[in-house]
Amino acid sequence: MKLVFIGKPGSGKGTQAKILSKKLKISHISTGDLFRQSTGEFSKLVHSYIDGGNFVPDDLTIKMLRERILKEDCKNGFIFDGFPRTLPQAEMLEKEIKIDYIIDVHISDEEAIKRMSGRRICKKCGELYNLNTNHIPKKKNMCDKCGGILFKREDQTSEAIKKRIEIHYKEVKPILKKFNPIIINGEQSIDKVTEDILKILE
Ligand code: AP5
Repeated sequence: MKLVFIGKPGSGKGTQAKILSKKLKISHISTGDLFRQSTGEFSKLVHSYIDGGNFVPDDLTIKMLRERILKEDCKNGFIFDGFPRTLPQAEMLEKEIKIDYIIDVHISDEEAIKRMSGRRICKKCGELYNLNTNHIPKKKNMCDKCGGILFKREDQTSEAIKKRIEIHYKEVKPILKKFNPIIINGEQSIDKVTEDILKILE
């Protein structure tokens, strides 16, 4: 099974990709996570783009993705979370990989801003929380699952959030037109969004 989750920043595509990769036993490939987990000079370079809310250039992104899907854990399939986001990336995908479903987790701009500003992430296990929705940690700044400390991403400033939404409209909208993805209402509970996606995959 090969899936693509496309959606506005903050739409919950990462949350869903994480849940579904476990349920379906396939890999979760988030280009954003790969950039954030990178090290050395490559990390410095990509952070000069992502921290301000800009896209990383296509050549770097495509090279990284091509290398990632060659790994053993991709043999059974994968979910792309946040790829493709530009027309050259979409063209690469069309040429090189046969995707089963492309799903657009849709939310309004207002909801996206609310979710991006309130997001907190566990440093230890990566669990996601949100201070502005009903996904609040039980103890302040502490992960319910592993007790790890929660942090904010560098691109959670109001400037970067504004930029990410602007770029989404400019770059991602033409891709939505090209692929005509299945649209899921992302403004429901996390469980309900998962249920809706699973219905499509049945
Ligand atoms: P990336 O990491 O992909 O970030 P993004 O697209 O901006 O998306 P987010 O991670 O902010 O949101 P999400 O939709 O995954 O939502 P989440 O599940 O976290 O990319 C970061 C950067 O890397 C980009 O800006 C760019 O610079 C670069 N990059 C990445 N891919 C690239 C590419 N292909 N080409 C070039 N550059 C690239 O949820 C958000 C919050 O809401 C969380 O707090 C969560 O707990 C909460 N939440 C989720 N679902 C619900 C729900 N149903 N109800 C209530 N709360 C919810």
